Amino acid sequence: TPRVFSGIQPSGDLHLGNYLGAIQGFVRMQAQDIQTVYCMVDMHAITVWQDPADLRHSTRELAAGFIASGISPEKSILINQSQVPEHAQLAWVFNCVARMGWMGRMTQWKDKAGKNAEKASLGLFAYPALMAADILVYHATHVPVGEDQKQHLELTRDIAAKFNHDYGVDFFPITEPVIEGAATRVMSLRDGSKKMSKSDPSDASRINMTDDADTIAKKIRKAKTDPDALPSEAAGLEDRPEARNLVNIYAALNEQSVDAVLAEVGGQQFGTFKPKLAELAVAKMAPISTEMARLMADTAEIDRILAKGAEQAREITAPILKRTYEIIGMVG
Ligand code: TYM
Repeated sequence: TPRVFSGIQPSGDLHLGNYLGAIQGFVRMQAQDIQTVYCMVDMHAITVWQDPADLRHSTRELAAGFIASGISPEKSILINQSQVPEHAQLAWVFNCVARMGWMGRMTQWKDKAGKNAEKASLGLFAYPALMAADILVYHATHVPVGEDQKQHLELTRDIAAKFNHDYGVDFFPITEPVIEGAATRVMSLRDGSKKMSKSDPSDASRINMTDDADTIAKKIRKAKTDPDALPSEAAGLEDRPEARNLVNIYAALNEQSVDAVLAEVGGQQFGTFKPKLAELAVAKMAPISTEMARLMADTAEIDRILAKGAEQAREITAPILKRTYEIIGMVG
C-alpha cells in the first residue's frame, strides 16, 4: 500500500521555494486518499546550532505553515520529529548500515561543511541516515520533495537495499522520489544562479511565507530580470535564468505548465508581466501568511495537534522498529 512521507526543517523562515517545491505537492497527495505523514524535522535542524527559543518558535510556525497551506490534521498525520522517538532509534541502525564514503559524497554535506569538515558536527555528516530513517520507519513508498533532495533520496534507496541484503530480508521498501511541478528548484529573486534559500542573507532574495501582501508585491517588482521580452516557447528561456525563474514561479503558482504560461504571456515585457505575477503571488500567498499569523496566536492548539500526530505516528513506527530490532538480533 502506498504511503507518503516528507519533512521540512524548522530553521528560519519558510519561503516560496519550500511552498512550490514541497508543500503544494504535499497538499496534492493528501487529496488522493493515500496515507500522508508530514514532519517538522527538528532533529535535522540542530545539526547546526539553533537558538532554543528560535527553534521552538520555528517548529510551531512551520506547523502553522503546513496547516495554513491546506494540510489538514484530520487527513494527514502532522508530527514533530523529536516527538516520535523511533526516528532516532532507526537512524542509529542506519548509521551502522550506511558507509562513510556514501555520506562523504553528498553534495549538501560538501556545501555545508565546506573545507572545514573538522569543525562540522557529527550529526551534519550523518544527516542523510536520519532522513532515511524518517522515511523508512513508516515504510513510506513516495516522498514529495524539491530537486535539491534527490541525492538524499537515492541514498535512502541504497540504505534500504543494503539493509535488506545484509540481513537477507525484503523488509524496507525502495522509495520513489516525487519531484513534480514547474518549480522544483526555485531560484533567488536577486541572482538566477542561486537557489532560493532560508540562509541567504538578503531578505529580498526570497518570498517568505510570513510576508504580507505589500512585501510580496514589492519583492517581485524588484526581482532581477533582463531587458528582453518573454519568449513564446520554453526553449527561449534557456540562457535567461532570472526570466525562467519568474515564469516557473508563475506556472507553479497557477498550477499550469510553462508552455501554457508562455502561450499567454510570450511577447510581453517584464513591465507587463511582473504586475501579473505579483497579483497572482499575492492572491495565493497572502491568505496563507494571514492564516499562519492567526494560528500562531494559539500555540497551545498547535501543540495539541502535534501531540495527537505523534500518537498516531507511533502506531505505525513502533511495530516497524520492533520488527527491525528482531531482524538484527536484538533481544527484547
Ligand atoms: P528543507 O527543509 O531544506 O526543505 C524542505 C523542502 O523544500 C524544498 N525546497 C525547495 N524546492 C524548490 N526550490 C527551492 N529553492 C527549495 N528550497 C527547499 C526541499 O527540496 C524540501 O523538499 N533534508 C530535508 C528535510 C527532510 C526530509 C526528510 C525530506 C528530513 N527528512 C524525509 C523528505 C523526507 C531538508 O533539509 O529540506
